[in-house]
Amino acid sequence: MDFLNTISVGDCLDLIPQLPDNSIDLVITSPKYNVDLPGYDLGGDKMSHQDYIKWLREVFKAIYPKLKKGGRCAINVGDGENGRVHTHSDIIQFMSHSLRYLPYTTIVWEKHNTSNRTAWGSFKSPSNPSFPTAMEYILIFAKGSYELQSKGDTDLTKEEFVEWSLTPWEFPRTAYKESSRLINCGIHPAPFPPELPRRLIKMLTWVGATVLDPFIGSGTTAEQCKRLGRNYIGFDISEKYVDYTNKRLAHIITEEGLFHEENPDQQEEICASDSGI
Ligand SMILES: C[S@@+](CC[C@H](N)C(=O)[O-])C[C@H]1O[C@@H](n2cnc3c(N)ncnc32)[C@H](O)[C@@H]1O
Repeated sequence: MDFLNTISVGDCLDLIPQLPDNSIDLVITSPKYNVDLPGYDLGGDKMSHQDYIKWLREVFKAIYPKLKKGGRCAINVGDGENGRVHTHSDIIQFMSHSLRYLPYTTIVWEKHNTSNRTAWGSFKSPSNPSFPTAMEYILIFAKGSYELQSKGDTDLTKEEFVEWSLTPWEFPRTAYKESSRLINCGIHPAPFPPELPRRLIKMLTWVGATVLDPFIGSGTTAEQCKRLGRNYIGFDISEKYVDYTNKRLAHIITEEGLFHEENPDQQEEICASDSGI
């Protein structure tokens, strides 16, 4: 089955094994964080932490043979309970120790999100204060080698390389416009800001590479791949999210290899017609 430049509905644990081995240059993904976030189309966002980590381990174990040697895997995740549940560190443990991934780097990005700001714990008291985290992690791993095994063309500018190779990442406030729109329209409760996959794609792959997102959601990874001349493969368990992603991708017009901004009026139509998702 050819998944190249398609978005498929299904459980990624069923779909990943159908991909050819050694075919993926980069995985960019963000699983549910297991923080009881409301608003997902299917299923909840809360299982025991042990079961959650066991499930993620199965997903990234299935991905390993599908990556090319030198391919990378970037996992965006946040910790639970204001930093008391160390999801990111448990993922690093199983990726680098029980699975065979090479730890490449950890990028912290600042969310500028103060929605949890009232979770003070013991307010104005050292008794049991909370530390809400307005940042997330991008955990990056490599398979077999830190170096890409093929040569290709890059679209990175000198300025981008210099700025993006320094962590933490701070996105301009305008970078949240699209993800805020998706949340506010009720299309998806947890989309990436497009700047996140954009930076990873440009920093970690040659033009024309193949990028997999097994939890594609509203399709941000695929949308950025299409704009940047990379191939994409996306999976999501929700048919509604896959339908939305396909509509979103159809609005990116390609012409002689150039990728144009979509018509903002059409974007508004998408919001209006799908606000019931
Ligand atoms: C945090 S969201 C990803 C959001 C995405 N990065 C975006 O920009 O919209 C996680 C997604 O995983 C999907 N999902 C949950 N369990 C899944 C499974 N077993 N297989 C495939 N997708 C799954 C959910 O439907 C949800 O859309």
